[in-house]
Amino acid sequence: MAIIVNQSQGLFHLQGKKMSYLIQIINDFPIHAYWGKRLRDDADLTEVSDSDNGVGIDRLPQEYPQYGTGDFRYPAYQAKLGDGTRITELKYKSYTLSAGKKKSGSLPGVYVEQENEADTLELHLEDEYSGLQVTLVYTLFNQGDAITRYAVIKNGGSDSLVLQRALSMSIDFPSGNMDMVYLTGSWSREGNITRRPIDKGATVIESRRGMSSHQFNPFAALAKSGADERQGEVFGFSLVYSGNFEARAEMDHFNSIRFSMGVNSFDFAYVLDQAEEFETPEVVMVYSDQGLGEMSRIYHRLYRTRLCRGQYRDTERPILVNNWEATYFNFTTEKLVDIAKEASKLDIELFVLDDGWFGHRDSDNSSLGDWIEDRRKLPGGLNDLASQIQDLGLQFGLWVEPEMISPDSDLYHAHPDWCLHVPGRRRTEVRWQLVLDYTREEVRNYIYNSLHAIFSTVPITYVKWDMNRVLTEIGSADCPPHRQAEIAHRYVLGLYDVLERITTAFPHILFESCSSGGGRFDPGMLYYMPQTWTSDDTDGVERLKIQYGTSLVYPISAIGAHVSDVPNHQVGRLTPFSFRGDVAMSGNFGYELDLTKLTEQEKEAVKLQVVNYKEMHQLVQQGDLYRLKSPFEGNETAWMFVSEDKTEAVVFYFRVLAEPFPRRRRVYLDGLNPELNYKLVPVDGVENRLAAYNDKVLGGDRLMQVGVVVAEEQKDFFSTWFRLKAEG
Ligand code: DGJ
Repeated sequence: MAIIVNQSQGLFHLQGKKMSYLIQIINDFPIHAYWGKRLRDDADLTEVSDSDNGVGIDRLPQEYPQYGTGDFRYPAYQAKLGDGTRITELKYKSYTLSAGKKKSGSLPGVYVEQENEADTLELHLEDEYSGLQVTLVYTLFNQGDAITRYAVIKNGGSDSLVLQRALSMSIDFPSGNMDMVYLTGSWSREGNITRRPIDKGATVIESRRGMSSHQFNPFAALAKSGADERQGEVFGFSLVYSGNFEARAEMDHFNSIRFSMGVNSFDFAYVLDQAEEFETPEVVMVYSDQGLGEMSRIYHRLYRTRLCRGQYRDTERPILVNNWEATYFNFTTEKLVDIAKEASKLDIELFVLDDGWFGHRDSDNSSLGDWIEDRRKLPGGLNDLASQIQDLGLQFGLWVEPEMISPDSDLYHAHPDWCLHVPGRRRTEVRWQLVLDYTREEVRNYIYNSLHAIFSTVPITYVKWDMNRVLTEIGSADCPPHRQAEIAHRYVLGLYDVLERITTAFPHILFESCSSGGGRFDPGMLYYMPQTWTSDDTDGVERLKIQYGTSLVYPISAIGAHVSDVPNHQVGRLTPFSFRGDVAMSGNFGYELDLTKLTEQEKEAVKLQVVNYKEMHQLVQQGDLYRLKSPFEGNETAWMFVSEDKTEAVVFYFRVLAEPFPRRRRVYLDGLNPELNYKLVPVDGVENRLAAYNDKVLGGDRLMQVGVVVAEEQKDFFSTWFRLKAEG
């Protein structure tokens, strides 16, 4: 694996384990020559592109296309020059090749620990007329079939210019017959897998909400028609960014498909004065010839080990109990300690105090910004509560929402201009709150210092960082008029600055990000916080889809999943405790209910769940995920987790509704070693296990080809799971 340069042919070959990506310089333009199954490099590769000198630019597959010189497809960038003209023509100048990957100064990204983990190619392009310079940066990861791409755009001329579009990447696929697969949703129903054929015209997903959003995740895969979970070619694109984004697949009149992705060009204009640079966020591009399943596993391994950082990256995450659905804003120290006492008896490891502990916050209409504990609820303060929790043998965690300000707060009274707003105009409140202007250094410093004061005095080992509204009236009192359209992007940069400082200052704290559930479940946030609260919807049935969909890109260790009360607070559904437990145990496990109200039987169930989860923690969170049955396709869901050496696995099966006179249910396993024999190990406390198979030893080939019959009970909300251990 390497990046091979053939200077005489102008060829750059990014050759992975299973894939090749080819760029060819033709007429000084960087042409996209190929991306797909691995090609040998010992034969002539120049003919693989359908580009040649006689073809107009509108038909050439390109790496970073421009507008205005004959290509009428959507461009990767657009610049308005000082003289008012908008024509630029980027021509190839030179390249640099280096081992490893450079770290960005201000943006999150996938990283390497050793230089030999990746190789980086930089293509330097220039528009001679204006001096506009663009460097296209490609890093090929040796570990899996992934390439990261971003661009650095520099004003090398003497006049200021305005970037009107600055996408991270663009690629042209020569032929059609592809579907776009992406994740849609809203609050409480994130992660819906949506798939539609790409046809003439544009298929676009985007966020204009100032955050990556519940509505569209910054991810898309192009799947060759017929590619499914287990087979076929899939090309994945995941943007490491937490703000407005766009992803666009455009099919032209030759049926070729241009796919581009990056910061949303909508309401975007970025001024570059002389010598200034704009760095785009990076897109992580993954190739799989074994369907969406293998694409996900490549993302999971890379994001788990080379996007997430810090001491919790490789360690088992604590099983937590969060008081939100147990008490909402209505709690006292005594009530919280009672829940913690019960948690300690059940061997839960971490107690998390959610919203409502500061200012005078008895509902969601006040106090954001006033990060001082509310002595009415916590007479001894946070420290007293934390030490009581610790005395019970639990760790203590705390909720914060540091990007926000309530109009009813001391902070707002002191600094009414510290929120994003447009002077003289109405300030749209969402959940009675406004968004702090993180583009301003003094605002960021205030928040950093407020948090620092708490985190350095209270024994906190976990923080839930929430963000509960979209951005509106995106303007800053501190920004000159000609730069106001930079604010949405600068907000994200400001956020990353605070996150970098606070996570560096407190390396012992496990941070979990949240945005009304999964409103900002994106790789940018994962760089700072290795887990995310997946959704405010904690219903077991809804969670099947949410967690299944989210796992298309994001590793299980990142997917927060809690057992909550019934009737479920979001949908009113009654599901068995075991069903809710089995769904939550398929993620980053915890509880979100009043443990003091559980029946003795439920407490026994919790004890067993905790023991069982601790035993398979490693497997679920660090193993390879194989999705076996999709909740988007019917009444059943199944998935399994396989250890890297394939000697251990755990299989989960769920059926939502009972069906009269059902046929025998068969689940075909995946990811095992066909040469190994596996023992099906019954699990303590799992009632409905596969009785017929208990303690049987079956071949990996048989388990995958013939499957196992799931012994079901005739009832709604049936779930079961079992473990496999290789013998001999
Ligand atoms: C939204 C989060 O998603 C919930 O889990 C909870 O923390 C509330 N905010 C608190 O306001």
